[in-house]
Order: sequence, then C-alpha cells, then structure tokens
Amino acid sequence: MRAATPEEIELHAEAGRAAVRAHAPYSRFAVGAAIDVAGGNRPVIGVNVENASYGLTSCAERNALFAAVAAGHTELRTIAVHADAESAPPCGACRQVMAELAPDLVVVYRRSGELVAARLAELLPEPFAL
Ligand code: THU
Repeated sequence: MRAATPEEIELHAEAGRAAVRAHAPYSRFAVGAAIDVAGGNRPVIGVNVENASYGLTSCAERNALFAAVAAGHTELRTIAVHADAESAPPCGACRQVMAELAPDLVVVYRRSGELVAARLAELLPEPFAL
C-alpha cells in the first residue's frame, strides 16, 4: 500500500462526482466508483443502488465492474472508490468480483483520511477460484 498518485487522485475525484447519482435512500451512504480501463477515453462509472428489499442492494464497485464488462473492456487497471467517510475500502464481496475480472487491479480508496492505492492481492490474498 502506498500514497495515491496525482492520476489516482483524479480518478478518485471522478468517483466522487459520480457518487451524487447514487440511489441510497435507506443508508444515506452514497458511494461512487471509477475504473481506469485500457483503451477507454473516460473512466467507467458505478454508484450504489439500494432497494426497499435491502438485500438487493448493489455496491458502486460491482456496478462499475459489470458496466466495464458490458462495454467490452477486458483490461481494468485501477478502480477508485469514493464515499464521504474517513475510511471507505471496498467490501469483501466486491473484492472477490475484482479478483474474477482483474486480479492485478490497483484499488484506490480513503483509509483513515489518507488516499491510498493497494494491489488487490493485498486486500484479498486468497480469492476463491475454480
Ligand atoms: N456500499 C458500496 O457501494 N460499496 C462498498 O464497498 C460498501 C458499501 C454501499 C452499499 C449500501 O448501499 C451502502 O454503501 C451502505 O452499506
């Protein structure tokens, strides 16, 4: 884990601009995710989308990851996660989805107030795989 670079800081800001579009009327915890993809002019965006049937909620990271797949991107380089919190690392379920799609992904998030970048392998050392 290391401090985020200027490019990663900008990707995180992009995730923050997206977070205002989150649908989070139950938790009031808006999350945005932005993925830097090879060959894309713009990052691929996701926001959390909640549901009155709480368990149907879908995290910002997974929504961004699935949007990247749907758009045909096969090389996902960096994902930035933004929430209005001192610490906002991606949840375990999203880490497992990241491992499926981009094992070498760099993950940018706020940790105790600092913007950090970590390799996915550091955040999820033993992903499930078939
Ligand atoms: N959430 C995310 O979007 N990403 C995470 O990594 C953790 C949690 C969302 C789910 C729910 O809408 C809200 O944040 C509170 O848990």
